[in-house]
Amino acid sequence: MNLYQKMNVFLANQTVMYMKVHNLHWYVKGHQFFSLHEKFEEIYDQTADIIDDVAERLLSVNEYPVANLKEVLELSTISERYDKDVNGILAVEILIADIEQLIKDSKELAVLAEEADDSVTNDMFIGYTGEYQKLHWMLTSYLK
Ligand SMILES: [Fe+2]
Repeated sequence: MNLYQKMNVFLANQTVMYMKVHNLHWYVKGHQFFSLHEKFEEIYDQTADIIDDVAERLLSVNEYPVANLKEVLELSTISERYDKDVNGILAVEILIADIEQLIKDSKELAVLAEEADDSVTNDMFIGYTGEYQKLHWMLTSYLK
């Protein structure tokens, strides 16, 4: 899989995450409701920005960003969540597992972009790696 194909998988995963974090925002239950409901909103807003940035980067290099849900679900490697209540701890654990995947993918994309001599995309995914590592630290701190 080349850099831009893998970027489309990343884009598909972000699109799934946009829905999945809404799912957690809506279905989280328990004493941490207010803090997590708000945090999840912040995360899906950031996800929307990432979706647009990655798609427009693909367009900038004459590639085609995935922009339909059928192909998003075919390409994505992150699983969706069924509609059921979730307690705060489990909601955060679900998110941490997905973020670990996104950190791994961001690192791989940064390397692929460097090998392809695409410094703008390289910079983009180095940035996402750092942002997701920070979010991972915060979410794991929440559970301790
Ligand atoms: Fe809301």
